[in-house]
Amino acid sequence: MVPAPSSPALTPALLTAIAERFGTPTWVYDLDAMDAAACALEAAFDGAPHLVAYAVKANSAGPLLKRFAARGLGADVVSGVELALALATGISPEKIVFSGVAKTNDEIDRALLAGDRGILALQAESAEELHRIAARATTLGRIARVAIRINPELASIDTHQGIATGHDDAKFGVPVSDLAPAYAALAAPSLAFQGLSVHAGSQLLSTGDYLDAARILLQTAKDCPRRSELRFLDSGGGFGIDYGDQEPVPPARFVAETRALCKEFGFGDLPLHIEPGRVLVAPYGHLLTRVVQRKEVNAGGGKRRWLMIDAGMNDLVRPAMYQARHRVTPVAGVDSLKNCIDFRVVGPICESSDDFGFHRLPEDLPDGALVLLRDGGAYGYPMASRYNGRGFAAEVFVTGGTVGAAKEREPEQAFLDDRLRF
Ligand SMILES: Cc1ncc(COP(=O)(O)O)c(C=O)c1O
Repeated sequence: MVPAPSSPALTPALLTAIAERFGTPTWVYDLDAMDAAACALEAAFDGAPHLVAYAVKANSAGPLLKRFAARGLGADVVSGVELALALATGISPEKIVFSGVAKTNDEIDRALLAGDRGILALQAESAEELHRIAARATTLGRIARVAIRINPELASIDTHQGIATGHDDAKFGVPVSDLAPAYAALAAPSLAFQGLSVHAGSQLLSTGDYLDAARILLQTAKDCPRRSELRFLDSGGGFGIDYGDQEPVPPARFVAETRALCKEFGFGDLPLHIEPGRVLVAPYGHLLTRVVQRKEVNAGGGKRRWLMIDAGMNDLVRPAMYQARHRVTPVAGVDSLKNCIDFRVVGPICESSDDFGFHRLPEDLPDGALVLLRDGGAYGYPMASRYNGRGFAAEVFVTGGTVGAAKEREPEQAFLDDRLRF
């Protein structure tokens, strides 16, 4: 018997019970494993001053944010709503940074009014934004703590182009070759400069591009006309995970090598911030789904075998959006790989891109069988939509080997109400 590979806490019996209670598709998360990943990353700093600012966009579920808050993690937010979520789940404003290229005045105001003196830093992505933040702070009678997100203008970034951010054609950050206007904007009396940040891109499997970006960040810090005011440097997120056939460098090595670089540049004592999202949650969340039926046709000079499941691109859009591959494994396990054949696994959505790719699965996998779409704990539920009138899937957090916090599938009536609300 080849067991269904997944988080050990997510046993076939537990997954079957969850499917019976919550229906399918349902997101199932191993909260303890996410917690352990966060603790391991905290430990990688070895007591040195730092902030692990969890990228809330990766998975913004309340039980997860509460657990991370209790572990002392901070948050990297990209909207006013994410800011509200971080605050509501107990993350101190002193541990919140706010990234994003188009923060609205309302979002800036919310950041400035959080706690006694606003959040730790609004990470500005342009000189124009710094001017706007300064104006909002003056209007509100606040001092805005700001950082500048630089764009390191890397020549290439080894990841999917949709998640590469640190090149000069990207909308993100202030290009390092054009920092003067941003530095000039810092002269506004309502701004308090705190630091510099960078984010090369996401799903980085080796440290090369990350360290290249960090090196540019550190050189920028060294050359910064306000170097003495620096309170932190932020080397961003992007640590990659194994979606099946990859061998990512472990996150602790990203941290160790970045810290070594900081020391080399003379910034060993300055707090180092990182903004991991995916690596803390993706491997520990899976979409539990059922086989609706198979379809076998003779076409294109051969047999085409489709496996239709009840989860679609509205639930997990990464394959359609980034050509991402998520492993598909039967919950009951696989008796023998000998009896497996290639199925093209697809969802119910009326789009050809609702396609999870070819997967080797038991030839006799019956209708109704439970299968996992694996490693969807990041950028799964948060990117979901109601396309084709499908409500948001249920979400279940497993902790201590049993169902902890859980939320039912969005009722059909919620969709009907919304569409008929006019
Ligand atoms: C500024 C910033 N920080 C952090 C992250 C998190 O990246 P990851 O989930 O790959 O760690 C992102 C992702 O796009 C980002 O844009």
